[in-house]
This record gives sequence, C-alpha cells and structure tokens, in this order.
Amino acid sequence: MGIKTLSDLTLQNKRVLLRCDLNVPIKDGVITDDGRIVASLGTIRKLLDAKCSIIVVAHLGRPKGEASKNLSLAPIAKRLGELLNTEVEFSGEITGQVNRAHSLNAGQILMLENIRFISAETSKDEQERNLLAKELSTYADVYVGDGFGAVHRKHASVYELAKLMPHAAGDLISSEVAVLEKLTVNPERPYGVVLGGAKVSDKLGVIENLLGKVDVLAIGGGMVFTFLKAQGKEIGTSLVESEMLDVVKGLIATAEKNGVKLLLPTDIVVAPAFAADATPTLVAADAIPADQMGLDIGPVSAAAFAAEIVKCKTVFWNGPMGVFEFPNFAAGTKVVAQALTQVSGISVVGGGDSAAAVRALGFADSQFGYISTGGGASLEYLEGKELPGLKALELI
Ligand code: 3PG
Ligand code: MG
Repeated sequence: MGIKTLSDLTLQNKRVLLRCDLNVPIKDGVITDDGRIVASLGTIRKLLDAKCSIIVVAHLGRPKGEASKNLSLAPIAKRLGELLNTEVEFSGEITGQVNRAHSLNAGQILMLENIRFISAETSKDEQERNLLAKELSTYADVYVGDGFGAVHRKHASVYELAKLMPHAAGDLISSEVAVLEKLTVNPERPYGVVLGGAKVSDKLGVIENLLGKVDVLAIGGGMVFTFLKAQGKEIGTSLVESEMLDVVKGLIATAEKNGVKLLLPTDIVVAPAFAADATPTLVAADAIPADQMGLDIGPVSAAAFAAEIVKCKTVFWNGPMGVFEFPNFAAGTKVVAQALTQVSGISVVGGGDSAAAVRALGFADSQFGYISTGGGASLEYLEGKELPGLKALELI
C-alpha cells in the first residue's frame, strides 16, 4: 500500500492537524500505561523541529457523543507536555476553535478535547462526519494521520478529514504498516501466531484468514473454552460462546486440512470464581470440574506454546492467555511473553491490551521486536480488511 509519508509533505512552518491515538488505560484519573503517548512522540518532535504548530485531535474511550469528565483528554495533554518537556495547551472545546488554532505560534501545541464527545465523529451518516471534518479542516494547513490504533474506524477525524486536506501518515503509522507488511508479505517461516482474549467472535475473521497463512496457531485466553467445548470437553463455568461452537468446529477442521499446527492447552488453571483471591487449582483440560472456571492456561500448555514460539522466525501475539491482572492467573501470559523475547526473527506484540499486559508483567518494550499500538487495527490488517484510515492516506 503506497501511503504518503511525512517526507511527501512540505512541513516547514506549517499549521498541522495531527490525529493521534492516545486512548490509554486510565484508573482513578491516573494513566496506567502511557505507551501510546510515548509512541506518538517521534512524529510530534519531527513536526516541532520543522517549526510547525500542532493541533492534536484524539479520542479516549467510547463516550458515544456525550461529554463526560472521566473521559476528558486533559490528563493526557498534561502527560504529553511532561514527556515533551514543553507546554501543551488544552482546549475543552472542539468546534469553534479556528481563531485559537490560527493564533498558535511555531512550536506550540494545542490539544482538543476528546473528539468522540461529538456524535458526528463516529456517526454512520457520512454527511454528518463530513460537516465536522470540514470545520476541523479550517484549523490547519495540512493533516498528519498518526493514530494507528484507530485506522480501522471510518470516523470523521480519521477518514473524512484526511481526504479534505493535504495529508500524510506520521512516522508511527509508517512504522506500524512496515511491520505488518513483514507479517503479511512473504513472512519468514515458520510463522506462528498466538491469540488470546475473551471472545472468538472478535477474532473470527483473523483466525479464518490466518489459517491459510501460518504454520502454527496457538490459542489461549477466555476464547479457548469455546474451542475445548467444541471438542466435546466439559468446561465448567468457564466463558463460552455457545453460538460459535459449530464455527469453531469448522476452524479446527480447516487447521487440520491446511496442515496448521493448532495448539490448544492441555492443562488449565481453574478457580471457583472470577476473583484475584479465588483459590487456583491445576487440572487437565478434559477434567475441568463442573463448578469451576478456567482462568489461565496451565504450565504444561504454556511450556508447549513457548517451545513452538521460539522455533518460529515470525511471531505475532495478540491477547493474554489468562486473567493476567490477577497474579495467580498470570503465569501463562508471562511464559508466552518470555518466549516472544527469545524469538530470533521478528516478534510482534499486537495491541493496546497485550502491550499493556507485557509492561504490567515487568517486561521492557526493548525485549520485543515490535510492540504495536493497534489492537483491533492490527487484527483487521492481518485479516486482510481495507482500513479506512490507511486508505485515506494513500498516495493519490
Ligand atoms: C483502541 O483502543 O482500540 C483504539 O483506540 C480504537 O478505539 P475503539 O476500539 O474504541 O474504536
Ligand atoms: Mg478497540
């Protein structure tokens, strides 16, 4: 895909509208993982070096068109200012800010409030989105799209706005796409993918597509119980998507037909409840007690996954293997993360949540080949879908 990059734009002294993905986890008003803010710094610094003034547009959470104090971008503007060691002005208003935007001097940064406080941003109605985009387009001379985590959304500030203005992808999007190309265009083999997380339905498209491309597919996390049940096993009170059982049977058959090594756990850490202090017990995957739920893959399975991962030359991982937020159920995710750090080829941690998980478990970004900032966006790319935010940035 030929995306316009920063070198295709004349940036010197320009007023730039910069779309970032600063959708970071916040707990009790405190940012718990600033990875996406840090990942946005490279492009911002480059724009500052070119004496641009910058108007940052970003979202937080899913406020559904209504302002809410706990989804304000104010703490994110503050954190960005700390990281850049410069002042980041914050505007509580989003529309009606053309004068303020035009009054910025070279090197000044203004961050607008959560763009999703305006319903037109995520509207299904193209005209509504266009109207918002038109107004925002008057704020600046050029548009730089760098919010990789949101490129799969056909939203006003991601899609329409890019098309209305001279535009280019920022360096974060450029590097994300370069990495994803390595996973999709002649990946070095063996190629392994590890998927976790709660729902099969979220990952169905990508699993279907990957079954035609990978050598190894390892499945953990909450969605694994739908696989185990599809194999006729008792899964107790574990998460399950009953309506997906036939589909999953089909996936298992396709894996076999295509010669994909499908790794499912053979042992499971179960507990009577979803709670940090619930008593963990290790059982075989075909012996989950009726009154217990699976909360992590067991050590034998984790070791088996790890053994396959380290043999691969290309590995992509999205989704935790268990409830890693609870120390008793974090071991599976930790072992898989550890294996990724030992891959001799390219290892990619995909996704906001998976990235936050590895950091929370004490790993450093530098231990992995690449940590993507896009969960859904990376998955949709691997699924082979057309991503609106990348399409809008394509060379004309
Ligand atoms: C994300 O965190 O997945 C991105 O910021 C996109 O957010 P969304 O899934 O709410 O569209
Ligand atoms: Mg998402």
